[in-house]
Amino acid sequence: MIPQAITGLQCSKCKWMAPAEPFVYTCPKCGENLDVVYDYDKIAASCPRLSLNKDHDASMWRYLPLLPVKEAPENRSLRVGGTPLVDFPHIAKKTGIARLQIKDDTRNPSGSLKDRASELAIQHAREQGQSTMIAASTGNAGSSLAALSAFHGMKSIILVPATAPPAKLTQILQHGAQLVPVNANYDTAFDLAFDWAKKHQSYCRNTGVNPILAEGKKTVALEIAEQNEWKVPDHIFVPVGDGCIISGVYKGFFDLLALKWIDFIPALHGVQADGSAAIIDSLSHRGEIQAVSANTIADSISVDHPRDGSKARRAIIESGGRGFRVSDDDILAAQKLLSETTGIFAEPAAAAAYAGFLQASEAGVFKRGDHVVVLITGSGLKDTASAQKLLIPVGAVNANLADVENFLDSSQG
Ligand SMILES: Cc1ncc(COP(=O)(O)O)c(C=O)c1O
Ligand SMILES: [Zn+2]
Repeated sequence: MIPQAITGLQCSKCKWMAPAEPFVYTCPKCGENLDVVYDYDKIAASCPRLSLNKDHDASMWRYLPLLPVKEAPENRSLRVGGTPLVDFPHIAKKTGIARLQIKDDTRNPSGSLKDRASELAIQHAREQGQSTMIAASTGNAGSSLAALSAFHGMKSIILVPATAPPAKLTQILQHGAQLVPVNANYDTAFDLAFDWAKKHQSYCRNTGVNPILAEGKKTVALEIAEQNEWKVPDHIFVPVGDGCIISGVYKGFFDLLALKWIDFIPALHGVQADGSAAIIDSLSHRGEIQAVSANTIADSISVDHPRDGSKARRAIIESGGRGFRVSDDDILAAQKLLSETTGIFAEPAAAAAYAGFLQASEAGVFKRGDHVVVLITGSGLKDTASAQKLLIPVGAVNANLADVENFLDSSQG
């Protein structure tokens, strides 16, 4: 067991400090989302940066001293986190930058970055004495909670819009979670899950309103820093729906800067679909974030009312990042280009980050020496129907050499 370094949960709006125990989801004073606050001197004393070099655990649990739980789970062998950060010099050269890296979080156990949050939330729920968790999800948080609950022996209940991609619904059922497909959008499912958790005193893994989730997601930032030997990139592109991933990425770099393990926080660029851009739209006026009526092919970032909008906006502004809006056509084109040039198959929401990178490049945002990371948050195998929109269907060929050769000649690209 490590010495607990949490000093409390601080409101991101009124700055009220709630104790870490008993755990509260949102600010008891004003209802806004909370940030986990640490005693950085205590962390520095118990875990000097160099000590990580000796840790052979490649999973996100290598960062336990910076996480809000007492212990890591006994079994970490499914390995959440520790995903590849892959260099693409040919794309960097073409773009006129020094370095492009893709952080491939499709390589988590259930195929998305959400595993980082589920893994931490399950351990946190255990430490709260809970045995049942509920979550509303556009699909990935649910499939992630279902998979990791199966691994850790937790009971999970998942509310999703009935229109979620079939592969994500299949994942949830396959892992034995109780699936509740609701005839409503994600926002309604969110409120229902929260109400159920309150009524039945269960643990709620709803994005945004549970500060533990951003702490799990922040481990991707810790990895990006460590994998670059603590020389952080200049820019990071992050797809944004509710805004919890980008606020988690910001929190990771914020913690590292407070520990003086890095020199600055990279510019965090938030990318939203044109049809679901409440957070990006609010950047220009900085007033209240106005809900939209979301409509985009990128189901994972299709959100009317972003539940972590204020913290996401803070992450973009305070890191010196920008907001990018991309169309569904841009997303599908970026998804195909990414697959063809890197070998990485992203789902539409994740490909939105790459579309944002392409848009920024065209807009002349980068300087020659820049180091850019694009965060790919979920696997394309979860939604093959979207990718198929740009593919030309291929008919069957008669099983003889001449027909195969004719086919290859006629279909040469
Ligand atoms: C693959 C993927 N990318 C991006 C996001 C957006 O994350 P957030 O809602 O925290 O902004 C999600 C959320 O479901 C996701 O599953
Ligand atoms: Zn408050």
